[in-house]
Amino acid sequence: MRVIVTKNYDEMSKVAARMIVSQVILKPNSILGLATGSTPIGTYKEIIKSFELGIVDFKEVISFNLDEYLNIEKENSQSYDYFMKENLFNHININKKNTYIPDGMSLDILNECRLYDKKIFEAGGLDIQLLGIGRNGHIGFNEPDIQFEARTHVVELDQQTIKDNARFFDSVDQVPTKAISMGIKTIMHSKKIILLASGKEKADAVFEAVHGLIRPKLPASVLQLHPDVVFIVDEEAGLRLDLKEIY
Ligand code: GLP
Repeated sequence: MRVIVTKNYDEMSKVAARMIVSQVILKPNSILGLATGSTPIGTYKEIIKSFELGIVDFKEVISFNLDEYLNIEKENSQSYDYFMKENLFNHININKKNTYIPDGMSLDILNECRLYDKKIFEAGGLDIQLLGIGRNGHIGFNEPDIQFEARTHVVELDQQTIKDNARFFDSVDQVPTKAISMGIKTIMHSKKIILLASGKEKADAVFEAVHGLIRPKLPASVLQLHPDVVFIVDEEAGLRLDLKEIY
């Protein structure tokens, strides 16, 4: 595992964007795994800047998002589909037909989960997966006590996650209680993984993910087993890390 501690959110975003841009330059038909949440917004802004400067071209890129709420229309501004268009897809030349987000409105949700993994596999597997982290250590929507063997599946959101995500809704009652999420196994199959964290409220989760026991209670701890993972965290999120102990 590699850990990069940056002095602030903007630096974290720049470092992460550079890695993704370089991935696409080296392999123009890269398969990107993308994330939502407030943390990657700055990274997406930096990627857009590189695109506008003509440094990178997304026309052959395929993307798969980590997760989506259940029973929220794509057009709803709270959907992750809407988020991705607003924060990235509308600003770069990716072909929207090549951007996949789990369909939380599917009438056959189990089939949707199965097909999602199949599509990733058929595309050749994820080259790089971007992740945020929840305060409880979740990645995607893989909440504490998840099975590490899980592929894309339906999840019940943790009370902590519902509370944390309420800031994006008018009230806590409007936050969906279920979502569809790539599973840990799907994420761990990615060739490379970048995890981003910013702010002191993430410091405990980051500490446990890097130094703690590998356990389903702290889903991000499984990343210690990945051969090519980098945590890019700002000083506040990295506050409890012992950099001498990381190898
Ligand atoms: C959400 C998403 C995650 C994200 C996490 C942290 O619930 N499903 O993919 O990493 O919460 O969000 P934020 O970056 O806003 O702190």
